[in-house]
Amino acid sequence: MRTEQPVPLPIRLEDYAPPAFRVEAVRLELDLQPSATRVRARLELRRDGGAAAPLVLDGVRLKLLAASVDGRTLAPADYTQDAETLTIPGVPDAFVLETEVQIDPQGNTALEGLYMSGGRFCTQCEAEGFRKITFFPDRPDVLTRYTVRLEADASTYPRLLSNGNLVAQGRLDGDRHFAVWNDPFPKPCYLFAAVAGELDELADSFVTLSGREVRLSIYVDPGQSARAEYAMDALKRAMRFDETAFGREYDLDLFMIVAVRDFNFGAMENKGLNIFNSSLLLADPETATDADYERIESVVAHEYFHNWTGNRITCRDWFQLCLKEGLTVFRDQAFSAQERGAAVQRIKDVRALRTRQFAEDAGPLAHPVRPSSYLKIDNFYTATIYEKGAEIIRMLSILLGEADFRRGLDLYFDRWDGTATTVEAFLACFAETSGRDLSSFMTWYEQPGTPRLAIEALYDEAAEVLDLTLRQTSSGGPDRPGKPLPIPVKLGLLDGEGAAQAFRLPGADAPTREATLVLDGAEMRVRLEGVARLPVLSALRNFSAPVVLGADAPPREGYVLLAADPDLFNRWEAGQALARELILARVRGQPDEVNEARFAEALGHALQDEAADNAFKALLLELPGEADLASALAPHADPTLIHIAREALRACIAVHLSELLTGLHGALQSGDDFSPEAAGAGRRALRIAALDMLVADPHAANQARASGHFDAAANMTDAMGGLSALSQIGGAPFDAALAAFYTRWKSEPLVVDKWFAVQARAPGEETVGRVLGLTAHPAFDPRTPNRLRALVVGFSVANPFRFHAPDGAGYRFLADQVLSTDAFNPTLAARLVGPLGDHGRYRSALADQMRGQLERIVGHTGLSRNVAELAVKALGV
Ligand code: TRP
Ligand code: ZN
Repeated sequence: MRTEQPVPLPIRLEDYAPPAFRVEAVRLELDLQPSATRVRARLELRRDGGAAAPLVLDGVRLKLLAASVDGRTLAPADYTQDAETLTIPGVPDAFVLETEVQIDPQGNTALEGLYMSGGRFCTQCEAEGFRKITFFPDRPDVLTRYTVRLEADASTYPRLLSNGNLVAQGRLDGDRHFAVWNDPFPKPCYLFAAVAGELDELADSFVTLSGREVRLSIYVDPGQSARAEYAMDALKRAMRFDETAFGREYDLDLFMIVAVRDFNFGAMENKGLNIFNSSLLLADPETATDADYERIESVVAHEYFHNWTGNRITCRDWFQLCLKEGLTVFRDQAFSAQERGAAVQRIKDVRALRTRQFAEDAGPLAHPVRPSSYLKIDNFYTATIYEKGAEIIRMLSILLGEADFRRGLDLYFDRWDGTATTVEAFLACFAETSGRDLSSFMTWYEQPGTPRLAIEALYDEAAEVLDLTLRQTSSGGPDRPGKPLPIPVKLGLLDGEGAAQAFRLPGADAPTREATLVLDGAEMRVRLEGVARLPVLSALRNFSAPVVLGADAPPREGYVLLAADPDLFNRWEAGQALARELILARVRGQPDEVNEARFAEALGHALQDEAADNAFKALLLELPGEADLASALAPHADPTLIHIAREALRACIAVHLSELLTGLHGALQSGDDFSPEAAGAGRRALRIAALDMLVADPHAANQARASGHFDAAANMTDAMGGLSALSQIGGAPFDAALAAFYTRWKSEPLVVDKWFAVQARAPGEETVGRVLGLTAHPAFDPRTPNRLRALVVGFSVANPFRFHAPDGAGYRFLADQVLSTDAFNPTLAARLVGPLGDHGRYRSALADQMRGQLERIVGHTGLSRNVAELAVKALGV
């Protein structure tokens, strides 16, 4: 393997050493010019550790123009500079370092550091982008007060924004102007942000619980501010939620969000100046779907919540990334549960967890929630850090109970406010306030892999007791035995008719209908008493732990749960399990038509349950995804067989429930104005889910229904619902709809992204060719991550059937895209590699070709560190 630099050594957690110098204050001056920006930095440094240590600062692609120590200009002999650092030996214990560098924002295609998007300057510094702006100790445990002066052409860049409060502004000669910002909160440099350009402002305000007024500003492309209204509304709801649910108030007088089109991830929590991918901020009914609104609500909340979990308390080092991300996802999930309904939110979160995180954890890219080494930290913004990180916090709250959990969190905020800290310090707060020993809980952070849980139940009718044996097997990664983990298992009992049954826990006098057992060793036996009738066990309710629960309960019990489990998560889960078994039976060539019909009937009953809400019913109608089914068949999965088997079950349901689904599709139509709230979204979701199922039986009437749905769409949710349904039918109706859609929306980038994605996801045979062809479409601009992801991720992740084309064309396409993207944006390129790492699931003819493409990537000359690290790991050698 040849990389741009000599093969680097991994960074290791055990090598952590505190910084040798603190930066007590920094003054930054950015003289903004698209291809030659000057950055002057004035750092007040103070030695913190060992006496003789030289000053070593990070700095990448910086053209050093001048440097001085305490006003004395440095000669070239006074320092050394290499590709990544500036070293100055012999510095005093306290001094002022001034540097001036030149950078090229216009030529910055990696979208890291200072770059340009849509003619505006913007920054992205997490994780290690600040070193591309100026020389600095670019590590999260160096907290500094910032004063920032921005200067730019007044007519081209009328807005000049940075963190904190605006303290001065004015005009200069030659159409230049400036603004000075001061952020009173010490922060790590990854939270620095600056934006300059022409932007419209949507302004509002929020009064905190203690009565302080905060100005809220969302900055967007000229003419777009109406599209930021939903984000503003979500922001105010999130601010209130953080006060009432977590006791956290906002701290500055100003909170700003800026939307940019070219952005590597979703959004960034820079102190007082969040920067968002425009796809996660801008919405109106015409151009955004309900799913977009839901994402916007959750990401606006996520970034806002970081103000406490991430900004005021940050990470000591990047190994602690989950400390801010897992905790903040936990918090945004709690917010979404309140806004959207707890059960529906939980189902969606778990579905995402299983598809993304369980898959990651089962393959060569598995890593602990707190990793112990990395080459590029950008590669660790993963489902494991975020989603499993959130599950761990959730288990902590279950194990401790709400009150003790909240006390521990309050102590954490109290004790560590204004510092950079660790997972151990976080857990210690909970141990202290609850008086519990949490040492075994730490294993959740240190051990990769998804534990398996098996529950054996033995009922003694005469004695009215149910003996449960719970067992866990945890692997510590590939071929390593794992340590047992503390697993909270929430459970309840039903009887054969679906009525909830009471039971008594060991030693308890009073009966209960639900309990949480904690399995903290390899095996545990529990006797439930007072169980009057033959029980149906509802275990791992609400998905109380991120584990795989072995399913060997008879289908009879699944039907009881699907019909009647008061725990809605498990009701949904029962439907998924029944469907999975039926699909897998077909894959094995043993279709069970009797039970397929029975399943369809049961689904029909569940859909008619007056008490259940529409969003929940829409989820019931969605069968397990093809990728999840492939995991169940590893290492012999055949995506073609899986697709055919899954479609067969869908067709069976479409035929059996034709009348009911058609009725739902008709009855749920509404002439009311679009409103993005949960109720309207749920109604549209169920209507589209019904249509989606119906087209699995694509006779003329269903085709006409799909075309009619698309043609009559009065909002983007319905337009995309119709277009997706047509994509399953393919042929002329789909092509006609695609053409009409493009003509109507070609000037709306966020909608054109959807147009690319829906084609990438289409199951038709022509999809691979179509996707290749789309890379030559005039609207395909791979330098905008949203556009690239729409096509490449839309295909490789969302369309397993066609991505795994037996001739390997899908794999070649992905490898080509990884390599071409790596040449200009390594962070983004690395994030495309994932699907090739799933080779462990698939039959060998496919797996060999997947590894072949990974080898091709690894052998490429001039590979970035980002891609090199992931491709080598994905090979699993
Ligand atoms: N901290 C951001 C979040 O989770 C994510 C993030 C990390 C990011 N690195 C980034 C966003 C680079 C954009 C670009 O909210
Ligand atoms: Zn985050």
